[in-house]
Amino acid sequence: MKRIEFPNDFIWGVATSSYQIEGAWQEEGKGESIWDDVVHNTKIIKNRDTGDIACDHYHRYKEDVQIMKALGLKAYRFSVSWPRIFPSGKGKVNQKGVDFYDNLISELLENQIEPVITLYHWDLPLSLQKIGGWESRKVVDAFVDYANFMFNHYGDRVKKWITFNEPLVFTMWFYSLGLYDLKPDVRRGYLASICVNAAHAKAVEMYRKSKNSDGEIGITLNLSHVYPKTDSELDQEAVKYVDGVNNRWFIEPILKASYPEDILGIANKKFNLPEIPKEDLLLLNDNPIDFLGINNYSCTRVSAEKPDDLTSLRKLIKRERLEEREYSEMGWEVCPEGLFDLLIRIDKDYNHPIIYITENGMACKDEKIVDNVVQDEDRINYLKQYFEAAHRAINKNVRLKGYFIWSLMDNFEWIEGYSKRFGLIRVNYETQERIWKKSAQWYHDIITENGFEVNF
Ligand code: FCB
Repeated sequence: MKRIEFPNDFIWGVATSSYQIEGAWQEEGKGESIWDDVVHNTKIIKNRDTGDIACDHYHRYKEDVQIMKALGLKAYRFSVSWPRIFPSGKGKVNQKGVDFYDNLISELLENQIEPVITLYHWDLPLSLQKIGGWESRKVVDAFVDYANFMFNHYGDRVKKWITFNEPLVFTMWFYSLGLYDLKPDVRRGYLASICVNAAHAKAVEMYRKSKNSDGEIGITLNLSHVYPKTDSELDQEAVKYVDGVNNRWFIEPILKASYPEDILGIANKKFNLPEIPKEDLLLLNDNPIDFLGINNYSCTRVSAEKPDDLTSLRKLIKRERLEEREYSEMGWEVCPEGLFDLLIRIDKDYNHPIIYITENGMACKDEKIVDNVVQDEDRINYLKQYFEAAHRAINKNVRLKGYFIWSLMDNFEWIEGYSKRFGLIRVNYETQERIWKKSAQWYHDIITENGFEVNF
């Protein structure tokens, strides 16, 4: 047995997002988002579930903050629903929406929990999708106005900001899925990702100029360490390519103010992309982040199946299943060494940035309930191994400053609907009752002791 202990100022938190927990989809002046549209007007969500009610957090936030307090959390990462603040994406402000987040922030601060705001966790105002979504520079401008409003209104009390959650997912993956208008199109995904980076840089610039610029601002990327299936040269090539599209395409504009040459070359050949505007690169260069948020759940194992075929992006990124490994309910491999290798690599290749793990967690069956407590040992085992990997990275001087578990409570898991449970707290969707899981009690103890005993 050895005891591992985290630095004194390490931030233990949980993460959620607006669409996944709030519900109240058309209450008190909120405008429609693209997710309201997707759930009501397509058939792609499992069981045709919707986020109309979700965890009803909009009405129950006080109770939820009390749960956070009982957990002993130091910080809470949540996202703001842009169409709750600006129902049409820009222009007129919805005061009731503004009040909701003011109240939530007050409640958190009164309970000594630091609010960490993500400005954009996928719920774009529908009216902005109608004028071109993330491929449009008009939407970039609307985002910057929204961000500016947020910094000025909440920035005296909120000192940690995240511009975007997982651009890879809401650009490349959603476009290749055809989520927005049901026409899969990888080229448009690339174009959107370029606009999003410009929006990010402009928002950071805005933050530095705002009257409340004494906090920190960053972005959250979903990064996954890529391993080859075999040692063959082709598999190595596949690693370079998948790592390029999934990781470097997003890290390098942010941390190096450039796009990776190899991927740019492939994308240009295939899709004839317009030149990346010089002013975008200048803006990125002039507006560095204070921290990098990393969402990490698993690693990626690839083999060299058509390594140059970008249209089959999703087929290429094959998550190889290894017999001997454990997998979550999402089908994602439990791969703590992937987190360790990723952290070391980011630290080494990108000049030692400050990092927060802004999401990590496990979807489990959660079937066994004893004395009203969910017996989720598998989740505890997962987190233990990941915490240990994170701790090892800190010992190697990686500047990891905090860790946010996905998620506070079970919630609407996008196209999986309510079929996947990630919470430390179980939600009964019929009664909205919140029930503690064993992992929640365990996490409480970790936070209190700022460490734990490892027996592996
Ligand atoms: C991430 C998302 C988050 C949640 C987890 C499971 O990709 O950021 O909203 O759905 O996956």
